[in-house]
Amino acid sequence: MAPLIFTTLFSLLLLSNTNAHTKHGFTVDLIHRDSPKSPFYNPAETSSQRMINAIRRSARSTLQLAKYEASPNSAQSVITSNHGEYLMNISIGTPPFPTLAIADTGSDLIWTQCKPCIKCYRQTAPIFNPKESTTYKNVSCSSSKCRALEDSSCSKAEDTCSFIIAYGDFSYTKGVVAVDTVTLGSTDRRSMSLRNVTIGCGHKNSGKFDPAGSGIIGLGRGSTSLVSQLGKSINGKFSYCLVPLTSQTGLTSKINFGRNGVVSGKGVVSTPLVQKADSPSFYYLTIEAVSVGRKKLHFSGTNNGTGEGNIIIDSGTTLTLFPPEFQQKLEPVVASTIKAHPMQDPSGLLNLCYKNISSFKLPEITIHFKGGDVKLENLNTFVEVAEGLSCFAFSGNDRMTIYGNLAQMNFLVGYDTVSKTMSFKKTNCAKM
Ligand SMILES: *[C@@H]1O[C@H](CO)[C@@H](O)[C@H](O)[C@H]1NC(C)=O
Ligand SMILES: *[C@@H]1O[C@H](CO)[C@@H](O)[C@H](O)[C@H]1NC(C)=O
Ligand SMILES: *[C@@H]1O[C@H](CO)[C@@H](O)[C@H](O)[C@H]1NC(C)=O
Ligand SMILES: *[C@@H]1O[C@H](CO)[C@@H](O)[C@H](O)[C@H]1NC(C)=O
Ligand SMILES: *[C@@H]1O[C@H](CO)[C@@H](O)[C@H](O)[C@H]1NC(C)=O
Repeated sequence: MAPLIFTTLFSLLLLSNTNAHTKHGFTVDLIHRDSPKSPFYNPAETSSQRMINAIRRSARSTLQLAKYEASPNSAQSVITSNHGEYLMNISIGTPPFPTLAIADTGSDLIWTQCKPCIKCYRQTAPIFNPKESTTYKNVSCSSSKCRALEDSSCSKAEDTCSFIIAYGDFSYTKGVVAVDTVTLGSTDRRSMSLRNVTIGCGHKNSGKFDPAGSGIIGLGRGSTSLVSQLGKSINGKFSYCLVPLTSQTGLTSKINFGRNGVVSGKGVVSTPLVQKADSPSFYYLTIEAVSVGRKKLHFSGTNNGTGEGNIIIDSGTTLTLFPPEFQQKLEPVVASTIKAHPMQDPSGLLNLCYKNISSFKLPEITIHFKGGDVKLENLNTFVEVAEGLSCFAFSGNDRMTIYGNLAQMNFLVGYDTVSKTMSFKKTNCAKM
């Protein structure tokens, strides 16, 4: 009896804490996978080596997606973003089981590796055992939670709701859909608990998942994401502020929910947030033009200016990826404003590289979103790929058009799915 009473009391405490808390919103650390606080951190690497690896990860996932789509038998849904570059610390179950997982604005489901493993990738931290959580419950086939999940399938015989998610780089996770309590550790040391959160318990997981991560926290726009499941308590609002990777301070980026997630005040630029029926997880924005200094280039995007939503905003992709036709117009304009000789990128990943960019003036690049202009700083547009060698951080890609995380650094980036707007406010994220 004793453990049961304890559990009930514990849950009540969590619940009351939640109610008091969400009125004000809450803030959670967003740890870049290459920052000193991350278990992925490799102190032997230089910052430019880390950057090259991040660029490779982005390039790999979009490249391999092309191959994956070419396979005629790919019946499963394919998550097109890479696994993401930021980690969030959450706890699953009762008692709370700490889980460090990748925060992904390009997918929805919250999933973790689960015991018993039919096949699990190597994971440094202990693996979640649903049998040890008193609040864990498998979701039945008839439940609305099973039907809400796009990637679910049902075995009527066992009444088991299963899910499978395949990622662009051939990784996949397969398991059962369940509900459990999810606790987010707030930066003010109070915790925020949610009951009956739909999660994926992955019993068969394989691919290029790093041993330091236990799964993925989907922050996408679809109904099963953490953001959607937080629902009314955050009123559809969250924001993050990404600390530039070059600041060697080990400072952690932050993600804010609810009232804390509101972006307001002087200098806020807002643009409509577009949702598309064929990719409901993605946050789409509309870019009308891009300026290099005073030269303005019309941006039609993938759908040739016919519709709204010509670019996805994603925290998990490093570079900004533009359609190759646009990139081919943009690069010569950027090059023409720089009075230095372009160099070869030793990694072969980027064009337009220059030595010692601090010794000359770089062009000011402005993104003309529908409804407002975002002026970028040099740290948003050039990235150091080797000692003293920096390259233009925008790249051509014929598969995906993505507003990447380098372009978002030192901006408070606000998502509001209720008023369907996205906001940018220039901010020194290290001081948040
Ligand atoms: C995540 O949270 C757990 C438990 O609160 C803590 O022990 C661990 O240090 C945290 N990890 C990171 C990377 O912050
Ligand atoms: C959930 O479903 C899986 C697969 O059918 C099963 O192995 C497991 O025992 C179930 N867990 C609970 C708590 O019912
Ligand atoms: C959680 O779901 C169970 C059924 O699956 C239900 O009985 C319970 O009331 C729900 N709890 C909350 C707090 O919504
Ligand atoms: C894009 O739009 C322009 C002008 O409206 C048109 O001339 C061109 O043919 C279109 N291209 C495609 C691929 O539809
Ligand atoms: C880079 O440029 C600055 C300013 O012109 C200069 O002081 C510095 O010596 C240069 N560094 C290298 C490595 O060329």
